[in-house]
Amino acid sequence: MLQKLFKLLAFYFFLCMLCLLVFLYSKNGSLQISEPPDDEQKKEQYFDKVAENFWRTEAPGVRLGSTAAEVLQPCPETTPDLVGPLHVEFETNRTLDWVREQVGSVLQLGGRYKPPDCVSKQKVAIIIPFRYRDEHLNHWLYYLHPILMRQQVDYSIYVINQYGHGVFNKAKLMNAGYAEALKEYDYDCFVFSDVDMVPLDDRNLYRCFDSPRHLAVGVDKFNFTLPYKNIFGGVIALSKEQFLKINGFSNTYWGWGGEDDDISNRVRIRIKSISRPDSLIGRYKMIHHDRDLHNDVNPHNPYKLHETIKTFKRDGLNSLNYTVKDIKRDKLFTFISVDVHVPSGLNLK
Ligand code: BGC
Repeated sequence: MLQKLFKLLAFYFFLCMLCLLVFLYSKNGSLQISEPPDDEQKKEQYFDKVAENFWRTEAPGVRLGSTAAEVLQPCPETTPDLVGPLHVEFETNRTLDWVREQVGSVLQLGGRYKPPDCVSKQKVAIIIPFRYRDEHLNHWLYYLHPILMRQQVDYSIYVINQYGHGVFNKAKLMNAGYAEALKEYDYDCFVFSDVDMVPLDDRNLYRCFDSPRHLAVGVDKFNFTLPYKNIFGGVIALSKEQFLKINGFSNTYWGWGGEDDDISNRVRIRIKSISRPDSLIGRYKMIHHDRDLHNDVNPHNPYKLHETIKTFKRDGLNSLNYTVKDIKRDKLFTFISVDVHVPSGLNLK
């Protein structure tokens, strides 16, 4: 009798342990299933919440499933898919339709992507100042989308086109891109890239670091070396916090040259340090081209650089004015045409 009672107790104990194990796994395991509620109104709220999380994911993230939400883990420090040095060539004729076919299938409208199986630490807006460079943009999109995907970046591409044919102002376009991107999503990192700059190594990460980052360390045009120590152009990345601290770019560099040296000054004044990848990983191939129309070298710009220290607090994000003329969403990018209010009678000579 006593033996029977003991067997029963042992069986009961075993059952309890089994239940406890199942309970613990459902809490800590990689898959957490939460059933949608029965009540119709509550069910609607539940799915709204899941959809909202999909767009604004905080770690741990949520992936949409048909009936349940799956918890995603943070993306690994070292992304597993990187391949290192890349072969890049610009001889192939690449139309936008063709690039869309090649790389567009996993993108959301607006050139938006987030890794499907992990949550990126940063939300990155990639800003490309633009005018008349359609062919370059096709090459850039063809190469950069797959690289950014392999880097597991949560990103969107913003092409900021200067409206009209007035004198070009690249820095003001980049400020406008920053402001427009922030209207859409709470980005915490901004990469500003020339449209003709393609990296030659996918280990050059398009994300932000403790110090503002200069990514284009070795450009083929400069024999893969820095032309001067403080150069800070081509492709740079700043966190929102860093960009705010320096008041963004100056709005007053019209025509070619100097705007990147001005932001270099701002960084040195307000933040002191910059970071760079090593010279092998930081290699770039630039698309050769003639000087753009309405973007002549401005001989006044180098002189303005002596004034950065006096002007940067009032010339930048806090004095930015522009008018959005048009926003178009392509599968590969968001195209925003911006009137930068070119001063009448502006003369670069
Ligand atoms: C200009 C910069 C330019 C650099 C490299 C400098 O003289 O001021 O804007 O990026 O040359 O071409």
